[in-house]
Amino acid sequence: MTEKFDVVDIIRAKRNKDKLSLDEINWTIDAYTRGVVGDEQMAALAMAIFLNGMDREEIAQWTQAMINSGERMDFKSLGKPTADKHSTGGVGDKITLPLAPLVSVYGVAVPQLSGRGLGHTGGTLDKLEAIPGWRADLTNEEIMHQLGKGCGAVVCAAGSGLAPADKKLYALRDVTATVDCIPLIASSIMSKKIAEGTDSLVLDVKVGSGAFMKDIDMARELARTMVDLGQDAGLITTALLTDMSTPLGMKVGNAPEIEESVEVLAGGGPADVVELTLALAREMLTAAGQPDADIEEALKDGRAMDKWRAMIREQDGDPDAPLPVAKHTHDVLAEEDGTLTKLDALAVGVASWRLGAGRASKGEAVQLAAGIELFKKPGDTVKKGEKLMTFHTDEEGRIPRALESLEGGIVIGGEYTARESVVLDRIS
Ligand code: URA
Repeated sequence: MTEKFDVVDIIRAKRNKDKLSLDEINWTIDAYTRGVVGDEQMAALAMAIFLNGMDREEIAQWTQAMINSGERMDFKSLGKPTADKHSTGGVGDKITLPLAPLVSVYGVAVPQLSGRGLGHTGGTLDKLEAIPGWRADLTNEEIMHQLGKGCGAVVCAAGSGLAPADKKLYALRDVTATVDCIPLIASSIMSKKIAEGTDSLVLDVKVGSGAFMKDIDMARELARTMVDLGQDAGLITTALLTDMSTPLGMKVGNAPEIEESVEVLAGGGPADVVELTLALAREMLTAAGQPDADIEEALKDGRAMDKWRAMIREQDGDPDAPLPVAKHTHDVLAEEDGTLTKLDALAVGVASWRLGAGRASKGEAVQLAAGIELFKKPGDTVKKGEKLMTFHTDEEGRIPRALESLEGGIVIGGEYTARESVVLDRIS
């Protein structure tokens, strides 16, 4: 087949800060998916985009081209509204787990097609696999059945048919230092969400050391770009900017985050996890036409828990089975008296990852019981020798490297300004 363009001309154009045309973008994504454009050429183009950016029109066209590279799902036949949430990823971010069953209480279908963790941020599927028997891989028919006739919420692996161009490109960006680039992140996330076919989407854009976006202005620009892409595609889309300078909740890791999610579904749990779950549920239910739903009550009176149990069972998991327990624990103690003024999200995330909760390369197995239980959060008073956190791991040899990653991440003493809310801003 004679190709319409030569990719070298397209790389050169972006390198020279020129705008790419619709035809050039469509051809590039299609030719990359077919293997005509090589990884080394796409890597050069991704770096040129990283350095020189893309305007709104190019980002929209790039997103659409990635959607066109695969299948589109359609939930219209369910006859009820669909609402989804996407988080840009953080430490201790288990919100999907209480959120999906909570929103489904109100007859809104929640298709949460999720991923696995890579690097220091955990993956929702890795966490759920700590539940004995639970299955992440569902067919499209199973997804539709669970959303329609089943409990109404599903958290499962995104099939390989959705935006395959993004799958290839994301793996390439991961090894070419081109992940943290707004046009590439926005098009990557939104191509999958638009292809998934949900009616509405709330984005949880994390800000702080444990997030892709370290400062709020960058996070705001990313959120604005994604909200515009969603709205232009006909999805009701909003975004919350939320704090990721310190871990969410008191448990980080796989089984530990399941435990904490169940605490929230039982009407308890840490205040920040409950606050964010309720804020995101409110966004999703407002988009689905139910702004006044009694979500606080549904967490307290067991309706959300009933949905959780049904959701786990429908994917062959046993919600009553004991969760795996790590073979080794190690306590990290306070070195002095004072106020804990810093507990850095990235430091804790990397420690948990080094304990075995995350993977260093694609396909690696994770330890289901690995993670960290926190006993103190910023603003708490601590005494010398008091327990700050406990490590959990199946391999004792991992503990020293995990301890190393905490260096500089824990500060006792100095100025501390309490945050008012985990939600920093809203973009609509
Ligand atoms: N998540 C994605 O799916 N893509 C990105 O580029 C970043 C986070």
